[in-house]
Amino acid sequence: MNQPKIILGIETSCDETSAAVVEIPTSGKPLADKGVKILSNVVASSASLQAKYGGVIPEQAAREQLKSIIPVLQESLQVAGYSGEDIDALAVTQGPGLIGSLLVGVETAKVLATVWNKPLVPINHLLGHFYANWMTVHLPGEIQHNPNTHPEGVTPAFPILGLLVSGGHTDLVLFKDHGKYQYLGGTRDDAAGECFDKCARLLNLPYPGGPQISQAAEKGNPQAFSLPRPMLDSEDWDFSFSGLKTAVANIITDSKQQGVTQKRPEQFIQDLAASIQEAITDVLVIKTTKAAQSYKVKQIMLAGGVAANRRLAEKIVTVASSKIGNVKIFIPPANLCTDNAAYIAAAALYNYHPVDPLTLQANPNLSLLTAALK
Ligand code: KG4
Ligand code: ZN
Repeated sequence: MNQPKIILGIETSCDETSAAVVEIPTSGKPLADKGVKILSNVVASSASLQAKYGGVIPEQAAREQLKSIIPVLQESLQVAGYSGEDIDALAVTQGPGLIGSLLVGVETAKVLATVWNKPLVPINHLLGHFYANWMTVHLPGEIQHNPNTHPEGVTPAFPILGLLVSGGHTDLVLFKDHGKYQYLGGTRDDAAGECFDKCARLLNLPYPGGPQISQAAEKGNPQAFSLPRPMLDSEDWDFSFSGLKTAVANIITDSKQQGVTQKRPEQFIQDLAASIQEAITDVLVIKTTKAAQSYKVKQIMLAGGVAANRRLAEKIVTVASSKIGNVKIFIPPANLCTDNAAYIAAAALYNYHPVDPLTLQANPNLSLLTAALK
C-alpha cells in the first residue's frame, strides 16, 4: 500500500493508555489535503491514582496500562465504527517513556498487526506530539479550539519551528519537512512540565501540577515574587529549569519562617503560582521567538502538555507577532496537547515507514536526536 487512509494508533508511554482511529478525509497525500480527521480518541489516565503518591510510580503505571489497553482499544474501534479489518495500518509509540508502560502498547500492536496482517508504524512519542497540530479536520462540536491557533483545514507549512514542552521534555526543533528536522536545543536538567509539577508539589498542590499552577495563577500577581529566568540570554537554544524550582523552594522556606504563608495562605499560593508560570513562560516564549528570528521562519508550533497552558499561548502569540511580521502560530487544543493516541496515528500518516512487527522493540531512551538531520 502506498499511502494508508485509516490508521489505528496506540499510545502507552507513561500514565495514559490511549487508542485512536484517524483518517485522511480525502484521497491523496496528506500534504495535499486539509489535515487529519479524528474518528475516535479514547484516553484512560491513571493520573488520579498517581496523584496519591505525588508522581508516577512506573510499576503501577504499567499495571494500569495492562488493565486498560483492551477496553480502550475496543472502545476506540467502536466509536470510530470500524473493525480491525477496516483499518489500513497500525501506529504505536516506540519510545521514549517508561519501559513497562511502553511494552504494553508495543507488544499489543505487534500482536494485532500480525493477526490482522496490517502494516505497523513505530512512532517517536516526541515527534508524535507535534502532529496534534495537523488534526485540523474537525467533527462538529468535537474539540474546543482557538480558530486562530488551530484553524480548521489549515495545516502547518514548512519550514516551521517547533517547541515541545511536556512533562519530560523541552525541545526546540526546526522542521524542514515531515521527518526532516534539525534539533536546536533542549533542557539541560528539568523539563518545563517537570518544573511546573515540582513547584506544585512544593506548594502542596496535587499531581499533575501544571494545570493546578495555571488555575491558582489566575487569581495571583505574576510580579509578586522575583524569580530567575534561567538561560534567557545564553548563546544557544538550551533551557534549564532546576534553578527556578530551587528559588521557589527558598521563597517557601523564607516565607514560612516569616509567617507569611500562614497569614494569607490562599493569596501566597496564588501569587507564587502566577510568578512561577510567568517565569517559565517568559523563558519559553522569548527563546522560541529568538530562534524563529534567527532561523528566519514565519511559522511556530507548540506541542506537549504544557502547550495547554493558556498564559503560554497568549504570550507566544503576542510576543512573536510583535517581533516577526506575518508570523503564524499553531497551538493544539488542550485535549490534544496532553498524551493521546490520535497524534501518534496522525504522525504515522505523514511519516509512513512500516517495520516488521517481529523485530520492533520498545525503546525507553529514544530521543529526537536519533533521527535528526546532521
Ligand atoms: O505531554 P504530556 O501529557 O506528557 C508527557 O509526555 O510528559 O505532558 C504532561 C505535562 C505535565 O508536566 C503537566 O503538569 C503539564 O504537562 N501540563 C501543564 C498544563 N497541562 C498539563 N502545564 C502547564 N499548564 C497546563 N495547563
Ligand atoms: Zn507526551
